[in-house]
Amino acid sequence: MSLFRDVLGADESLFRNEIALDYSFVPKLVPYRESEQHNVASCIRPLFQQRNGRNMFIFGQPGIGKTVAVRHVLNELEEQTDDILPIYINCWQHNTSFKVFLELCDAVGYKFTQNKRSDELFLVARQIINKKSAVFVFDEIDKLQDYDFLYSILEEVYRKAVIAIANDKGWLSSLDSRIRSRLMPEPLEFRPYSLEETKGIIMQRMEHAFSQGVWADDALGLVAGKAFEMHDIRRGLFLMRQAGLAAEGKASKRITTEHVLSSIEALDDFSIKDESELDDEGRLILEIIKKNSGRKIGDVYKAYQDAGGKAVYRTFQRRIDRFEGDRFVVLKRIAGGTEGKTTIVNLANDRKLTEF
Ligand SMILES: Nc1ncnc2c1ncn2[C@@H]1O[C@H](COP(=O)(O)OP(=O)(O)O)[C@@H](O)[C@H]1O
Ligand SMILES: [Mg+2]
Repeated sequence: MSLFRDVLGADESLFRNEIALDYSFVPKLVPYRESEQHNVASCIRPLFQQRNGRNMFIFGQPGIGKTVAVRHVLNELEEQTDDILPIYINCWQHNTSFKVFLELCDAVGYKFTQNKRSDELFLVARQIINKKSAVFVFDEIDKLQDYDFLYSILEEVYRKAVIAIANDKGWLSSLDSRIRSRLMPEPLEFRPYSLEETKGIIMQRMEHAFSQGVWADDALGLVAGKAFEMHDIRRGLFLMRQAGLAAEGKASKRITTEHVLSSIEALDDFSIKDESELDDEGRLILEIIKKNSGRKIGDVYKAYQDAGGKAVYRTFQRRIDRFEGDRFVVLKRIAGGTEGKTTIVNLANDRKLTEF
């Protein structure tokens, strides 16, 4: 009998490079968004001739490649020239003008930010930026509490292209006319992917993240179908990771529809957006993370156990993964190092958890 033929050995993994499933992973190629990337590049191009760039407003629903496409353009820009500073700021994580200025200082390598006021921070950053030109990307710009920073940048940075990204087209009209008339961005809508495109992207990630041949075709088709149905690649990545973990949990050498189906149940919890919607267990875990933000997941788990938490590590880990999808936390997965791979758990922010 070959009862154990399909069983995974203790030192085997279905994952080749799990980091490739991170939402923030930027693959070498971003297919199906070529024309959008050309559009973005054309707003930046005048900066190469010491002229002012054009501004852009990108919108479209979550999980359809807005961030990854723009980041990809910035990466190419960085490879091309040192004369144009690529500055990417996620406004969901940095949601006030003060925090944006801190990020600007960080981006230009200015470290002495302690005890400085907003205007002082901007003054320093501006002096450095104005020696060159800059592309500013303000991602999730609709999550900001104030737009003073935008006014300052539009008025006082000489050569720039400002790219604002939001889910909702309506953001632009909600802007104060004083800023809107200075921004005057070209709109660029990102449309959801077709089924074929969704499949292509899911397939590309599978090849990056998993060992060869571990995915059953119909299982991967199920993931792609679900991601397409929800118009959200991020959820497809979540499903892939969870199905992989589920298969590993059962020491299976293959990832099958059974593992995907069990992970789809977890997706139902994917859309919790507010702390008040969490169950007791979720609330306990979030409390622990608040006190232990920035620590390794193993340490956070210990603190959770010390506080009376009963879940096994795997369940705990899955919960934290879901928190990432719901944006309660930002996870940083670190490969290599003396301790092998580990995950750092950061509380996403102290801001209100609004819809995304
Ligand atoms: N065309 C694409 N090629 C490769 N990966 C993609 C593509 N579009 C989206 N993704 C992946 O899907 C996830 C969600 O995309 P993201 O850019 O974060 O969406 P958005 O910013 O629109 O919410 C990311 O992990 C991203 O890398
Ligand atoms: Mg995004």
